Amino acid sequence: MYTMGIDVGSASSKVVILKDGKDIIASEVVQVGTGSTGPARALELAYQKSGLTREDISFLVATGYGRFAFDDADKQISEISCHAKGIYFLVPSARTIIDIGGQDAKAIRLESNGSIKQFFMNDKCAAGTGRFLDVMARVLETTLDEMALLDEQATETAPISSTCTVFAESEVISSLSNGVSRNNIIKGVHLSVASRACGLAYRGGLEMDVVMTGGVAQNAGVVRAVAGVLKKEVIVAPNPQTTGALGAALFAYEAAQKR
Ligand SMILES: Nc1ncnc2c1ncn2[C@@H]1O[C@H](COP(=O)(O)OP(=O)(O)OP(=O)(O)O)[C@@H](O)[C@H]1O
Ligand SMILES: [Mg+2]
Repeated sequence: MYTMGIDVGSASSKVVILKDGKDIIASEVVQVGTGSTGPARALELAYQKSGLTREDISFLVATGYGRFAFDDADKQISEISCHAKGIYFLVPSARTIIDIGGQDAKAIRLESNGSIKQFFMNDKCAAGTGRFLDVMARVLETTLDEMALLDEQATETAPISSTCTVFAESEVISSLSNGVSRNNIIKGVHLSVASRACGLAYRGGLEMDVVMTGGVAQNAGVVRAVAGVLKKEVIVAPNPQTTGALGAALFAYEAAQKR
């Protein structure tokens, strides 16, 4: 039996196809979020990869910010539930999940059976999210892929004092014109995002293992900064951008079995 999860986020669209609730046979990401083109392209890639069509999919669960705008799903489930489900499947030892996406950051506390104990979210402000990193990459004339490498070459951290993305952008521009090293600024940018995420994680009472997920978990600079702030080891979920879609496909499998 094949089931599908689609995670229509603010920054990207992710699709996972599962065989019999355990084997991932397609896991696709398109860096275009809510709207029609991102989800449509992600679906097309997943069907191409698996050789399946919509008729082969027994149940389809949509999650993410844009889940209600996607009209081909059998059911919609929140992103918090789907991330928890996906992470527990991949890393059953996870008790604290940090998900940093394009427009929000979340910390989720799991019980040992995978159920959600508590969650905390920052969806009011771009600071501490992928959006902040996207803005900074542009100002610093670098790419998301390159940021972690430049962070590694930093000699010290040039901290960002502004808590607002717009002010932080001006602060970075002024630091650059004052000759502060770009690499050191990048390290400061990563620390700024990490500190906010850790603030959320602490609110639930930090419990090990800590697992990072969402697109920003692909940035090793942010992951290192999170581990540094928490003074704990941090596990990065395999293929972290797709864990919400994986959770949705797992929920779809459970629903298909009940049907
Ligand atoms: N290759 C990469 N390296 C580093 N960071 C990346 C990479 N690709 C994407 N990102 C970061 O991931 C962010 C998007 O994360 P993700 O796809 O989880 O967001 P989303 O689920 O669409 O958003 P949200 O959950 O907030 O609605 C981007 O803003 C970017 O900063
Ligand atoms: Mg997301």
